[in-house]
Amino acid sequence: MNGTSSYSAKVMDHFTNPRNVGEIENPSGVGNVGNPVCGDIMRLYIKVEGDIIIDAKFKTFGCGAAIATSSMVTELVKGKTVEDALKISNKAVAEALGGLPPIKMHCSLLAEEALRSAIDDYFKRQGKPIPQSPDKKDAHKNHLDFTQD
Ligand code: FES
Repeated sequence: MNGTSSYSAKVMDHFTNPRNVGEIENPSGVGNVGNPVCGDIMRLYIKVEGDIIIDAKFKTFGCGAAIATSSMVTELVKGKTVEDALKISNKAVAEALGGLPPIKMHCSLLAEEALRSAIDDYFKRQGKPIPQSPDKKDAHKNHLDFTQD
């Protein structure tokens, strides 16, 4: 695989026209993650009302696949309960984008971890225990410790 031909039309669409870029004022949770290997970073904001994620926005400094997966994950979480959002895997994000080249799958993991980090922050702000996700052994490994706003 080489060039843009290895990317689906959906990936290219979300890369060139990303949805939900920006910040949320008074967010319910903010997730900050980074990949120490490539140096890409992702910040994801969620707004929760009741138990529903009513809005999600992101800022990503990263590769095209990182931008496309950030865009898609914000689309996928909107309208979902927090509990259902926790079940969104990087594979689901990649599938929703029509697939990613194997070498770019780690970019979708960054999106999953950004979401998980934002939900963790939401539970922390609520003073509630952070639920464990049993099959996500690798989650948190890329979390950054820069201060959240
Ligand atoms: Fe770093 Fe894509 S190359 S997230």
